[in-house]
Amino acid sequence: MNLYEKYILPELIHLACSNKRFGEKRQSILPLASGRVLEIGMGSGLNLPFYNRANIERIFGLEPSDRLRTKTQALATELNIALELSANGAEDIPLGNHSVDTIVTTFTLCSIANIEQALEEMRRVLKTDGKLLFCEHGRAPEHGIQRWQDRINPLWKKMAGGCNLNRDIDSLLRQSGFMVAQHDYQYMQGPRAFSFIYKGIARLR
Ligand SMILES: C[S@@+](CC[C@H](N)C(=O)[O-])C[C@H]1O[C@@H](n2cnc3c(N)ncnc32)[C@H](O)[C@@H]1O
Repeated sequence: MNLYEKYILPELIHLACSNKRFGEKRQSILPLASGRVLEIGMGSGLNLPFYNRANIERIFGLEPSDRLRTKTQALATELNIALELSANGAEDIPLGNHSVDTIVTTFTLCSIANIEQALEEMRRVLKTDGKLLFCEHGRAPEHGIQRWQDRINPLWKKMAGGCNLNRDIDSLLRQSGFMVAQHDYQYMQGPRAFSFIYKGIARLR
């Protein structure tokens, strides 16, 4: 990991993810989390204030970046939320089979290096009647925008910590054994190559 990735990128991620419009998306999905919750790629913990604590038994979080993990832990302490944090990536989730009620992933599936393995792990740890709450940016529906996403992606990925602009989140979920039970896919305000949002609830098939 170079100095940019270690020190600067975590600050940029925190800044970018603090966007007010992301906050509106968080507000619309996080309160649905319940029971034993696993949050994938917690970043700086920006989802924490949006959980409905009355419905939460426990939150387990994964965050590989040391600096972001420190920020998340500090915020959890400030909010008095019991949080168990791990540095593991989603490709290797340190939890038992079918042990969580809710998996949360917001603006993270774009950045996971081995996304197929990570989704397989999510399937393994989710209870059979559990739910996966997702809110992710990804591949736009129009061919013209998709072409731009494919063109920009190699450079963007280098600058943005492995973030991919062109992942088709819906197809990835379905191919990995999830069914999408509810969805709301639409553009947010902003450049179209960066702003197509996949938000919804998936369950095991
Ligand atoms: C754009 S940030 C989103 C952070 C947070 N989910 C949010 O909504 O603010 C993407 C996060 O995914 C994390 N990440 C990258 N690779 C990962 C992996 N393999 N497993 C879990 N998280 C990962 C990054 O460290 C970063 O914190």
